[in-house]
Amino acid sequence: MAERTLSIVKPDGVRKNLVGEVIKRFEEEALKVVALKMAHLTKDQAQGFYHVHRERPFFDSLTTFMSSGPVVLMVLEGDGAIKKVRKIMGATNPSDAEPGTIRKDFADSIEENIVHGSDSPENAGFEINYFFNALEIFGR
Ligand code: CDP
Ligand code: MG
Repeated sequence: MAERTLSIVKPDGVRKNLVGEVIKRFEEEALKVVALKMAHLTKDQAQGFYHVHRERPFFDSLTTFMSSGPVVLMVLEGDGAIKKVRKIMGATNPSDAEPGTIRKDFADSIEENIVHGSDSPENAGFEINYFFNALEIFGR
């Protein structure tokens, strides 16, 4: 079933010139980019995005990192898009990630792990609406 998910090339991915590499890996797996833009998040905006993690010990460091430089925000559409993106990304900690995943190939640490992908339909809905309005999404 076609679904939508939100992905982010995090500030470390942009700094390392991996914007094209990340999008290429998604497109190669038949995911379609239906919305795309750059933003430099404020710390407040990063905290709002990651509010589910607000009680976690890494929350302050994570939201400082996420607001440390521009990011690329995108909505991807395709069959099983949410799980597919998570598989292409690899595990949160790059040392646990499968070979050939984005995080295994490029991430430096559990925090600076290049890419974000929604983890459930509920969170995908929240995350897409957090960054995009209906007129910015080009379903096809
Ligand atoms: O991104 P993912 O869904 O794989 O992981 P998460 O558990 O939802 O955590 C969100 C983000 O917080 C991760 O991608 C890391 O950037 C960061 N994090 C961290 O810095 N330290 C941890 N122990 C866990 C997550
Ligand atoms: Mg997550």
